[in-house]
Amino acid sequence: MTKRIAVIGAGPSGLAQLRAFQSARTKGLDIPEVVCFEKQENWGGLWNYSWRTGLDDYGEPVHNGMYRYLWSNGPKEGLEFADYSFEEHFGKQIGSYPPRAVLYDYIEGRVKKAGVRDWIRFRTPVRHVQYNAATGNFTVTAHDLKADRMYAEEFDHVVVASGHFSTPNVPEFPGFPTFNGRILHAHDFRDAMEFKDRDILIVGTSYSAEDIGSQCWKYGCKSVTVSHRTAAMGFDWPANWQEVPLLTHVDTNTAYFKDGTSKRVDAIILCTGYQHHFPFLPDDLRLKTRNRLATSDLYKGVAWVHNPKLFFLGMQDQWFTFNMFDAQAWWVRDVIMGRIAVPADKAERLSDVAARVAGEDAGSDAHDAIHYQGEYVKELIGETDYPAFDVDGACAAFFEWKQHKKDGIMTFRDHAYRSVITGTMAPLHHTPWQDALEDSMASYLRS
Ligand SMILES: Cc1cc2nc3c(=O)[nH]c(=O)nc-3n(C[C@H](O)[C@H](O)[C@H](O)COP(=O)(O)OP(=O)(O)OC[C@H]3O[C@@H](n4cnc5c(N)ncnc54)[C@H](O)[C@@H]3O)c2cc1C
Ligand SMILES: NC(=O)c1ccc[n+]([C@@H]2O[C@H](COP(=O)([O-])OP(=O)(O)OC[C@H]3O[C@@H](n4cnc5c(N)ncnc54)[C@H](OP(=O)(O)O)[C@@H]3O)[C@@H](O)[C@H]2O)c1
Repeated sequence: MTKRIAVIGAGPSGLAQLRAFQSARTKGLDIPEVVCFEKQENWGGLWNYSWRTGLDDYGEPVHNGMYRYLWSNGPKEGLEFADYSFEEHFGKQIGSYPPRAVLYDYIEGRVKKAGVRDWIRFRTPVRHVQYNAATGNFTVTAHDLKADRMYAEEFDHVVVASGHFSTPNVPEFPGFPTFNGRILHAHDFRDAMEFKDRDILIVGTSYSAEDIGSQCWKYGCKSVTVSHRTAAMGFDWPANWQEVPLLTHVDTNTAYFKDGTSKRVDAIILCTGYQHHFPFLPDDLRLKTRNRLATSDLYKGVAWVHNPKLFFLGMQDQWFTFNMFDAQAWWVRDVIMGRIAVPADKAERLSDVAARVAGEDAGSDAHDAIHYQGEYVKELIGETDYPAFDVDGACAAFFEWKQHKKDGIMTFRDHAYRSVITGTMAPLHHTPWQDALEDSMASYLRS
């Protein structure tokens, strides 16, 4: 095969794409040349922890937003690779909520085994992608940071796997310029110890708000105040935790809220989400979507409706992660290799998007959303040779997880689930999450 494929990003989505092609090659198929561009020094995407914030050593925006002591916020049984189980990687079954370092090791294990590292050009951000209507291919311009050299190459397809939880959405509230404490976005949060004995204000009510607040509580902050725009999270929080309406303004050391109450705080952490941000894509190729399950303009959630030679992986809001990226990557591989056809009629592609949006909108709660994304994963894997697995079983783990969070927001990680890949029950971790201050892999894997 003479086709050339550019994959942008070597996080879990981009690595899924490399593994999908490598898996076809092990089955004797002729695969295209795959070049993966990765702006960081190493693979793993967000799971590749960096102490840096702001700009990196080359002046590039730091991609990573994970922090020390981050543990998986959902059960690992919902994300397990169907072709590479946790037991295969660790030689035994492990607890259900691994810390970041353990999941990084797992992600890396599969691609090390696949031997695809030399397909990746590290420290090479993509600067521009252009579609050439005359030749029907793409010109990708990349920057080799180490050699400080920009170059352009041609590809038949481009797969964008650059993530969408790295460019922060940072609202400003009146008084911020003269507030005397620290103001930061979740993307720049690195270590809860910084906030020990401090009164912190969190703005936002989603996963970052819940988890960063919980981290700060666990590592000894004095109090947590969470301000909501739409609705409070409503968990049964510890005594030094309160939920308040939206922040209206701050002065030098006090935050004021919509209900007229106020609170003296030392730091404000904006857990206000992220933007889909593709500075390397021109207007005719740039995805513009909200963070939702049915993205705009992606046929089957992956093929750019306006030019289906271009694909996007992992652009959805995520209940399912690694196994959904796999489902998408296997499907994209099969389109590129001519085993699946994308409708030639654009109206047909657009109606697929409209049906997905309507399907998501018909749901009313998290249960419906999990079910919806599970059905999507099933749909894609049903069309490829990705190993079939019990997606409903993974959904059931998510439903249990939601209930465990309602039962105890600081104890939900003390539960264990059954693998839908190997059928083995996970052991209970040796230490309750709130007492486990050490999050190294060695500590987590100790029986
Ligand atoms: C704080 C935080 C915690 C999370 N915790 C969990 C969790 O516990 N469980 C879970 O399942 N999911 C979690 N997630 C969700 C996360 O989105 C996925 O797990 C996963 O990392 C997404 O993979 P990705 O490859 O799509 O994107 P990313 O992991 O963001 O990887 C994208 C890659 O693209 C590279 N890149 C970007 N732009 C360019 C460019 N122009 N040129 C070249 N390379 C580029 C980046 O350097 C990066 O390596 C979390 C997300 C955040 C922000
Ligand atoms: N492993 C972990 O423990 C962990 C930790 C952190 C994050 N994550 C992951 O990271 C991803 C992103 O999560 P996220 O919580 O950062 O983003 P998110 O889910 O997009 O949530 C954004 C939040 O910001 C609020 N918001 C946005 N603009 C606002 C404004 N101007 N004023 C007030 N509130 C505003 C939103 O409120 P509205 O509801 O009003 O819109 C919402 O609560 C998720 O996939 C999550 O799973 C995982």
